[in-house]
Amino acid sequence: MSSIEPSAHLAEVRYEIRGALTRRAREREAAGETVIKLNIGNPGRYGFATPAHLREAIASHLVDSEAYGHEQGLDEAREAIVAQQRARGAHGIDVERVFVGNGVSELIDLSLRALLQPGDEVLLPSPDYPLWSAATLLNHGQPRYYRCLAQNAHLPDPDEIEALVGPRTRAIVLINPNNPTGAVYPKALLERIVAVARRHGLLLLCDEIYDEILYDGTPFQPLAAVAGDHPCVSFGGLSKVHRACGYRVGWMSLSGDPRRTADYRDALQLLAALRLCANVTAQWAVRPALLDAPTIGELTAPGGRLHDARRIVLDHVAASPYLDVVAPGGAIYAFPWVRADALPQFDDTAFALRLLDEEGVLLVPGTSFNLAASRHLRFTLLPEPAQLVEVFARIDRVLGRMAAEARPVASAVA
Ligand SMILES: Cc1ncc(COP(=O)(O)O)c(C=O)c1O
Repeated sequence: MSSIEPSAHLAEVRYEIRGALTRRAREREAAGETVIKLNIGNPGRYGFATPAHLREAIASHLVDSEAYGHEQGLDEAREAIVAQQRARGAHGIDVERVFVGNGVSELIDLSLRALLQPGDEVLLPSPDYPLWSAATLLNHGQPRYYRCLAQNAHLPDPDEIEALVGPRTRAIVLINPNNPTGAVYPKALLERIVAVARRHGLLLLCDEIYDEILYDGTPFQPLAAVAGDHPCVSFGGLSKVHRACGYRVGWMSLSGDPRRTADYRDALQLLAALRLCANVTAQWAVRPALLDAPTIGELTAPGGRLHDARRIVLDHVAASPYLDVVAPGGAIYAFPWVRADALPQFDDTAFALRLLDEEGVLLVPGTSFNLAASRHLRFTLLPEPAQLVEVFARIDRVLGRMAAEARPVASAVA
């Protein structure tokens, strides 16, 4: 009997955040074991609530949500996004250049599908949020990675980005604040990256879904304002800042000189129309989310849960003989690594498996974020602080066992 073969196109596509390790964790849970999960940036799963006024906005508009809406999103949602982007200094924005989608995820795919010819190249950060790589490949593009190394505070090097530009390069993707590293890019760095995009006529795609999740006064600089009249797509959404992942609402706005992106805009509109519209119901939450008083500060300021979780991670890493980290300036992650002097032979994927099997903790290894030969682990800052303390105790136990196992080998070699 012949089997149904999937598209060969999927061969290179990965999403390990919900991949093999997660399946193994589910099997353990099905067998009655408890697994502490730090694998996914899903605030609602860790007791964070969507602000009540967003729920109420949706509830009061249920009857207005029964028909297909405009393919680019509800007028009132797009007007609120325009107001936010203009207040941030974005150029050339109006409701025709804003698209609301079923999460930023859908729009990442749409933005690349409207752009790429087979073989076109996209400059992506390594590590990246892996949907960006997957969507590039699925749309017949080729990822080219610029590094965001720990020794450079996980910031990209604009010279390295420029050195990767070739005749087929079409776009530079930035994730700021960054998943998985938590890096927040300074304005001067963004100016240099915009200059690269200008010199080579590249579209800027900036995933700013964590734009208001910031710690210790770290400033966030929206890319659109720096890009000015240069074509730039900025992405935002309800999932993280507004703790509403399940609502599936994201948006993208196309800034810069409208004459340069008229055809690209039309291509986006066509693709948006082919899927009719985004979920209408949840779009009613966009206006209050963007125009009413922000709610994220109480979580990121001292005494707030995200603030305290980040503090616990930093304190435990500082006290650990094995770990090091660059303090995240934003987002809901930390990306510590196992120091080469403490454990020279370290494989992040093998470690993550061992941590799950021996201690019931699920973490995503750095290699899952398109990072070669990684010694990194991605933590989410979402668990209760007490649970994070327990996670570190378990990590230290596994690392301690690995160090003890490595010792006789080391002395034999010596
Ligand atoms: C950088 C980044 N972009 C996009 C997304 C997807 O967001 P959404 O829930 O809006 O689809 C995530 C989710 O974790 C993310 O971390």
